[in-house]
Amino acid sequence: MNLIFLGPPGTGKGTQAERISAELKIAHVSTGEMFRQLANEGNQLGVEARDKYWGKGNLVPDEITIGLVKERLKKEDCRNGFILDGFPRTIPQAEALEKIININYVIDIESTDEIIIQRLTSRRQCVNCKKIYGINVPPKLEGICDVCQGKLYHRDDDKEDVIKERLRVYNAQTKPLIEFYKSKGLLRIVNGENPIEQIKADILAIAKK
Ligand code: AP5
Repeated sequence: MNLIFLGPPGTGKGTQAERISAELKIAHVSTGEMFRQLANEGNQLGVEARDKYWGKGNLVPDEITIGLVKERLKKEDCRNGFILDGFPRTIPQAEALEKIININYVIDIESTDEIIIQRLTSRRQCVNCKKIYGINVPPKLEGICDVCQGKLYHRDDDKEDVIKERLRVYNAQTKPLIEFYKSKGLLRIVNGENPIEQIKADILAIAKK
């Protein structure tokens, strides 16, 4: 089962990918997480990508992103299937992906800008295991991860001005993928404003058809 999770920033792609990948025993591939990891490790390309692109709300250039994903999909854990969370985000990325692998479904998780801004300004994430917390998913202890007791942090690109730029970039560069995948019969839409467990059930119903 090879799935793509599409949708604006903060719509719940990572939250659902964490749950659905565990349920279907497939890999969770998040390009955003790959970029954050590289920057945290002090990798030159990763630091540059943060300073020039994602830290400002802009997309990392296609050639860098496509190269990273091609390598990632060759790894053992992707053999049973995967969820691409945040890739592709441009038509050239989608065309490059088509050349290397087949996709079963593209799940478009939809939410309004108001909900997104509210969610992202209050999102926290674990520095170690990357678990995502929010208003509806608070940790048991403030600032501490329930799973690994790691510290929770607020992402650099979750400031309101950067979120607005990410939404602008999404509308300009990523939204056209909805038509791209609709025309191929792969698109399925779910309401990202529903409760987390409802959305999970909706996605599983699509994947298990
Ligand atoms: P990335 O990390 O992919 O960020 P994003 O797409 O902007 O998405 P987010 O991770 O912000 O949100 P999400 O949809 O995963 O929501 P979440 O589940 O966390 O990318 C970061 C950057 O890297 C990009 O801006 C770009 O610069 C670069 N990049 C990445 N991929 C790239 C590519 N392919 N090409 C070029 N550049 C690329 O949920 C958000 C919050 O809401 C959480 O607090 C959560 O608890 C809460 N929540 C979720 N669902 C619900 C619900 N149903 N009800 C209530 N609360 C909910």
